[in-house]
Amino acid sequence: MPVLNKKPNASIIFIFGGSGDLNLRKLTPALYNLSIDNYLPNKFAVYGIGRTEYSNEQYRIRLLEGIKLFSRRNEVNKNWESFAPYLNYLQMDADNDAAYSAISDVVTAKEQEWNERPNVIFYMSVAPQLVPEIATNLGKLNLCSNKSSVRIVVEKPFGHDLESAKALNKLLTSLFAEEQIYRIDHYLGKETVQNILAMRFANALFEPIWNRNYIEHVQITMAETVGLEGRAGYYDQSGALRDMLQNHILQLLCMVAMEAPVSFNANEIRNKKVDVLNAIRRLRTDEVHANAVRGQYSDGWINGNKVIGYRKEKNIAPESNTETFAAAKFYIDNWRWQGVPFYVRTGKHLHQKTTLITVQFKPAPHYAFPIEAAETWRPNRLTISIQPEMEIKLRFQAKKPGQAMILNPVDMVFSYAEAYDGHEPEAYETLLLDVMEGNPTLFMRNDQVEAAWEIITPILEAWSTRPAVDFPNYAPNSWGPEDAEALIARDGFNWVTLPLVQKD
Ligand code: BG6
Repeated sequence: MPVLNKKPNASIIFIFGGSGDLNLRKLTPALYNLSIDNYLPNKFAVYGIGRTEYSNEQYRIRLLEGIKLFSRRNEVNKNWESFAPYLNYLQMDADNDAAYSAISDVVTAKEQEWNERPNVIFYMSVAPQLVPEIATNLGKLNLCSNKSSVRIVVEKPFGHDLESAKALNKLLTSLFAEEQIYRIDHYLGKETVQNILAMRFANALFEPIWNRNYIEHVQITMAETVGLEGRAGYYDQSGALRDMLQNHILQLLCMVAMEAPVSFNANEIRNKKVDVLNAIRRLRTDEVHANAVRGQYSDGWINGNKVIGYRKEKNIAPESNTETFAAAKFYIDNWRWQGVPFYVRTGKHLHQKTTLITVQFKPAPHYAFPIEAAETWRPNRLTISIQPEMEIKLRFQAKKPGQAMILNPVDMVFSYAEAYDGHEPEAYETLLLDVMEGNPTLFMRNDQVEAAWEIITPILEAWSTRPAVDFPNYAPNSWGPEDAEALIARDGFNWVTLPLVQKD
C-alpha cells in the first residue's frame, strides 16, 4: 500500500536470480510500469545477479524481451529508453563468499555518486535451497547492519513445512532484524485483495452483519486452468496444499475474517491477521479425512487442447502422490466466527481460472410472502471476484415487474472495469514500491508464516503417511474430485462459481 504522492528514497535493488523467470516475467515488467507511472526514485539502479555471462547491453536486451511478452504495458518507446539505463548485470557466483564484496563496492560507488545513502534491497528470486547461503553471505556485509535502509525480500515457498520454516526464520532473524525481512505473497499486492480491507473497514454497512449471526458460511475458490508450466521439479515437491493453500488462500481468509484494525500501521494489520490464523481450529490427524480432500488430474482436454495426466508429465514419477487439487473446511474459534464453516479449494487444470470469495448470508428469518411468490427466493450472497473478473456482487431479492408478487434474486454489482479505466497495477508493482518505501503491511511476518504452516501440518502429515489410493481422481476441465463436492454438500451447501465471461 504505497503512500500517495511520494517517491521512495534513492534505491538499489539487487536481484539474485537476475536472469531467471520471475525477474523476466514479473519483477522487471513491474519496475518498468512503475517507471512509466513516475513512481521510481530519481536515484535508482537495479543489479541482476547471476552466473551466466552478460554485458549490461545483452542483459537489457534479454529483459526487454520479457517486457514485450509479459508487461501490462509492453510498448517500446521513450519509456524504455529512459528505463533501460537503470538496469545492470553483476556476474557473480552466489556460493563464492569472496564475490559478495562486489555488492558493497556497488553500494559505496552509488553512495558517492548520489551523495546520499540509498535503500539497498536484496531480492531472493532463486530456488529456495539457495536462500540460506546467500542470506548468510549477505549478513556478513557491514552494510546489512543498517536496519533502516537495507531490506531482504524472500519469495515463497518459505520453508517446506513448519520445521524448515522455523529454521529459515531463525536463520534470517539472526542475520537481519525482522523489520528488514519482506516475505512476499504476491496475492496481497493484488488490487482486489487490498480492496477487501477498503470494503470491510471503510463502510459502516458490512461490519454489523459480518459475523456468525448473519453469515452462514464462507467459500474461497482459487482455480487455475494452467498446469505445471514447466515447474515439475518444484511442484512435485510442493503440491497444491503448500503451493497455494498455506499462503495465498490462508491470507485471503485472514482478510475476510480479521477484526477491524485500529490503524493502518503494518504491525496492527499483521496482528489482526495472525489472530485469525491462531484461532483456526487445528485438525487432529484422524479428522483430516473428513475435512480435507486431495486430487490429482488425469488425461483429458481443456479448450480443445490435450492435457496429459499429472503422473505422465515430464519429470514426474509415474506413482507420484503429489496433489494438484486441495480443498479443506476450517473453523475459526473466536466470538465472531464460532460455528461458521470456511470452505477453501484450489487446483490446477480446472474448468475456469477464477479466484472468488463467497460470503453466504443466512436466509431471512421469516417468509411473509406466499409460497408461490418465493419459488426462487435465495439468501443474500456477497461474491468478491479477485480475478480475472474484478468485481463485487451483492445478491438480493427483488420483485419481478408485473401484476403478481413474484420474487427474484438480482445482483448489485461494483465492477472495476466500469468504475475505473481498467489499468490496475500488477501485484508486483505495488509490492516492490512497498519494499522501497519500507512498508511491510502487505508482507508476511515470521509468526504469520509459522501459524499458517501449523494449520496445514496435520493435513501434510496425513497425506504423506497415507498415499492416495484413487489418484488420478479428476479430469481436466472439471471442478476437481467428487469428494470435494461431498465435502461441502454434506453440510447442505454447494460450491459457488460464476458464469464464464466470454471474451472476443
Ligand atoms: C504461485 C504458484 O504462487 O501462484 C503458482 O506457485 C500459481 O503455482 C500462481 O500458478 C498463481 O498466481 P496468479 O497470480 O496467476 O493467480
